Amino acid sequence: MGKLKNKIVVITGGAGGIGSGMAKAMVNEGAIVTIVDVNKESGESMEKELQAISPQSMFLQADLMDHDNLEQIISTVVNKYGKLDVLVNNAHASRQKTMEETTQSDLDLSFGTGFYPTFYLMKAALPYLKETKGNIINFASGAGLNGHKTQGAYAAAKEAIRGISRVAANEWGEFGINVNLISPIANSPGVEAWAKAQPQYYEAVKNNIPLGRFGDIEQDIGPVAVFLASDDSQYVTGQTIMVDGGSIMLH
Ligand SMILES: NC(=O)c1ccc[n+]([C@@H]2O[C@H](COP(=O)([O-])OP(=O)(O)OC[C@H]3O[C@@H](n4cnc5c(N)ncnc54)[C@H](O)[C@@H]3O)[C@@H](O)[C@H]2O)c1
Repeated sequence: MGKLKNKIVVITGGAGGIGSGMAKAMVNEGAIVTIVDVNKESGESMEKELQAISPQSMFLQADLMDHDNLEQIISTVVNKYGKLDVLVNNAHASRQKTMEETTQSDLDLSFGTGFYPTFYLMKAALPYLKETKGNIINFASGAGLNGHKTQGAYAAAKEAIRGISRVAANEWGEFGINVNLISPIANSPGVEAWAKAQPQYYEAVKNNIPLGRFGDIEQDIGPVAVFLASDDSQYVTGQTIMVDGGSIMLH
């Protein structure tokens, strides 16, 4: 307990799925968490849950597609709490289509919710993370690493996120800022929707998990996010941490 005592954390897409699992794991370790999400109803309900443990935690409603307002997310948090320790770029929306079917609008959705907010929030957070020698946690996917069918727009944005994460790890290491990625597999509303739409791919992914099950957003992904947000990971940077039951074993 207390590994993240008084750390100020921002988690995008924190109202549901993995973002909410990480938020709960982090407040249980003493963090003060701001969840940023487009979904007002689930954001307000998650805010209540978090505040029961960490009264200063809050929900900010924002559509990450609105790139002009991303800086304001960081300034709102810093104005309220006086600092920023951890930025978690977790939100990402996409449509599953074959390469042949993929349109500009599909690319815009995936890059607009995944890549661009990650890039601009990292830049907006930089001056504050320099002050705290903070941590950034970004999100990768096996779909990008392995090039899963029907995931062209998503895979491209995810690998772009891995690219800038490694560049930032190199450029910002001198400031004591660590930048890592989690590549998860976990049950979430996003996965449930995908499983319904593409049951054959869902089964294939499930059957390829050595640990034999989909992960839990709080119990399986949460502790790894806590580690990467904490001082315990001070000598880890530029890494893609596979929290996927062993599905992909990096060489
Ligand atoms: N769940 C998995 O097995 C899995 C596998 C690989 C990668 N990932 C990655 O992990 C992260 C979390 O995945 P998840 O399964 O929990 O996702 P999810 O779809 O279940 O939840 C995403 C959250 O982001 C929010 N969001 C979506 N668009 C938004 C926008 N424009 N502005 C603000 N908020 C927005 C949603 O409201 C939701 O609360 C994502 O980056 C995803 O690509 C997940």
